[in-house]
Amino acid sequence: MHRFFIETYGCQMNVYDSNIIASIMADAGFERTCHSSDADILIFYTCNVREKAAQRVFSNINLLRSANTKVVAVGGCVPQAEKDEIFRYKHINIAFGPHAYHMLPTHVSRVLSGETDRVLDVTPLHPQKFNCCGAERTASHSEFVTIQEGCDNYCTYCIVPYTRGKEYSRPVADIIAEIKMLLARGAQEITLLGQNVNSYDGDAPYINIRKPRGTWNFGRLLQEVAALDGLRRLRYTTSHPKDITTDLMEQHAHIDVLVPFVHIPVQSGSDRILKLMNRGHTTKEYVDKLMAFRDICPGIQFSSDFIVGFPTETEDDFEDTLNLVKEVGYLNAYSFKYSPRNGTPAATMDGQIPDDIKARRLSMLQSELMKSQRAHNEAIVGKMMEVLLDKAGKKDRQYVGKNVYMQSVVVESDDADLIGKFRMVIIERAFQNSVAGRLV
Ligand code: 5AD
Ligand code: SF4
Repeated sequence: MHRFFIETYGCQMNVYDSNIIASIMADAGFERTCHSSDADILIFYTCNVREKAAQRVFSNINLLRSANTKVVAVGGCVPQAEKDEIFRYKHINIAFGPHAYHMLPTHVSRVLSGETDRVLDVTPLHPQKFNCCGAERTASHSEFVTIQEGCDNYCTYCIVPYTRGKEYSRPVADIIAEIKMLLARGAQEITLLGQNVNSYDGDAPYINIRKPRGTWNFGRLLQEVAALDGLRRLRYTTSHPKDITTDLMEQHAHIDVLVPFVHIPVQSGSDRILKLMNRGHTTKEYVDKLMAFRDICPGIQFSSDFIVGFPTETEDDFEDTLNLVKEVGYLNAYSFKYSPRNGTPAATMDGQIPDDIKARRLSMLQSELMKSQRAHNEAIVGKMMEVLLDKAGKKDRQYVGKNVYMQSVVVESDDADLIGKFRMVIIERAFQNSVAGRLV
């Protein structure tokens, strides 16, 4: 029996893809192991959004390879961007892009049989891959489901349009069938995934001849998913600010299971930088949308992504970003130093910012974001809320779960079997990255 080990880097879509890869490999008769040393097939599913993420893969291949290893497969966005350049790193047998994972068992078998020791498969989007999710797919209490993939926005810093390709929306019927299957296997929380979920543009479901595209927008898909039996919580990510519509805000006001917490990346608070980034909106347009969202859905909270040190960013531009963070009061946010990616317009712009300036701005931004996060954690002390318990905590008897806002909630219990359960909790103490509470 051949055993495979998967290591996943990067975004939630990579986690979803890796789950599908695991189920396809299991269907083909390979056994999954959680220990790289027990595996003769090592699969690395990679991210190319920033340089560091890409570099980590190659050092980890060296770390995890052993005398046992017969196949090293590197998948995802790094091989899609690098094509056969990736074979400059020796020891790699299979390089497959994010649209070729359904072919992995075939490629692995060819390498194992000695037919070849090098396979490159970087096919462009191949919708067939979505229909290969295996019979062996298991479901945890919280699952991701891709509804849309690719991006046509071409932000000037971003490699994604070149790796995940052009926008593609999965048919509604396929999405619903997959979610029903996951709910039947125990999932209770579903996160719909896409590079731009709001530009979802699906076919009509339940018909034999597909109608022209455009029949189903994202709001309508949300309604259809929310109506499925057994679904307790519905999330989605990522949204582009320009595609957030009043219709979407209204869905939040009407759909109970839809969480009041939305990730809407803005990247910068400077209009000049937003323009250079090709984001397609101003800071005011962005803030106006968030305010409208708050009017329609009181209590809604936001998270965001930020890039500091984009080419030509001045102290004033950066100050605008800090002011935006103070104005919005994000529940949390991810922030990154700008990382030039080969083939993107920003990588060759004049005015690249030295790393020490990027590092200083990043740490200033992060301390502002931490203040905001801490304030949100403190604001829920004394409140009672529903928590989905995800995993055991660090200490004995501890469990860690998430409330609707994705805040980590730590509780203690002698109950041996709380993982995957919803419980009411009174929040008692707040910390930087979590809160502690008592089961009701
Ligand atoms: N450098 C730094 N951060 C980047 N992101 C995307 N491309 C880059 C880059 N070249 C960030 C953006 C995006 C998130 C997923 O990654 O903030 O929203
Ligand atoms: Fe990248 Fe911009 Fe598309 Fe997001 S919207 S994936 S940042 S190009």
